[in-house]
Amino acid sequence: MARAHGKIILAGEHAVVYGYPAIASTIPQSVIVDACESENPGFNIPLPLGEGQGEVILHRLEQMLGPRVARLQFTVKSEVPGGCGLGSSAALSVGLIRAILERFGETRTAPQVADMALQLEKIFHGNPSGVDHTAIAKEGMIWFQKGIAERIACPVKLSIVVAVSRPHGGTLQAVEAVRKRYDAETAAISCIFDAIGTLTHEMRSAIECGDVPAVGQLMNLNHDLLCQLGVSTSELNHLCEIANSNGALGAKLTGAGGGGCVIALSHHDNQLVKIFNDHGYSAFGFEI
Ligand code: MEV
Repeated sequence: MARAHGKIILAGEHAVVYGYPAIASTIPQSVIVDACESENPGFNIPLPLGEGQGEVILHRLEQMLGPRVARLQFTVKSEVPGGCGLGSSAALSVGLIRAILERFGETRTAPQVADMALQLEKIFHGNPSGVDHTAIAKEGMIWFQKGIAERIACPVKLSIVVAVSRPHGGTLQAVEAVRKRYDAETAAISCIFDAIGTLTHEMRSAIECGDVPAVGQLMNLNHDLLCQLGVSTSELNHLCEIANSNGALGAKLTGAGGGGCVIALSHHDNQLVKIFNDHGYSAFGFEI
């Protein structure tokens, strides 16, 4: 049984596709994959995948890990809400690879697992930056830029609450929509990316110094810039407002946007989870 955790992006989503840095962290919730030899190989439960994607994934896994993969039956359970910007597809990719390696008693380094997961992520998302599956393969909090990932650490715990709005319209679609705006208004969109890049550097310093209020302020700024990019929704903005008017230090959408989740930096995560629940949203909290 292999596990791969979901992820949140603390700063830099979308800009990271254009070579700017991002800060991501794994979350406690994971995708759990079991691989066993079976006369009924393949996925034994329907995955929330597009038409024919399951076969393409299995074929790619066979190419990377050998024809023995064709004998395996995969059982997948997920604690990570799907299509919500929490890295469910990247966690599935890493989880499948880890389960196969575990079944055959083999090990690979985190970068090797990440390289293989990228091949699966391309099936889901076309041409991803790689931040999602790299964070998930490496685990913990990472600084990611142009395929290079470094673990970063905060001297104090960051208390995060995730509030779920509704599944987004797809990472691929959100990235394409930003690409169209970038092609049409390159100078203006580049300014937004520059600002996101700067705040991501500032957030790294704030995290490494344990300056939690500064991290929160930078999350708010990142959310405003993501609004300008056009990837937020009125519901995501509303979730940020709920967080900030109830004592959060900052809040932002996380991941591709267009739906999905908001992350809030909080002093009192249980209290904020309850407040989101009282507003009709599912939410959960953890420390990173
Ligand atoms: C999705 O979690 C993050 C995006 O920046 C896409 C990517 O990095 O490939 C929106």
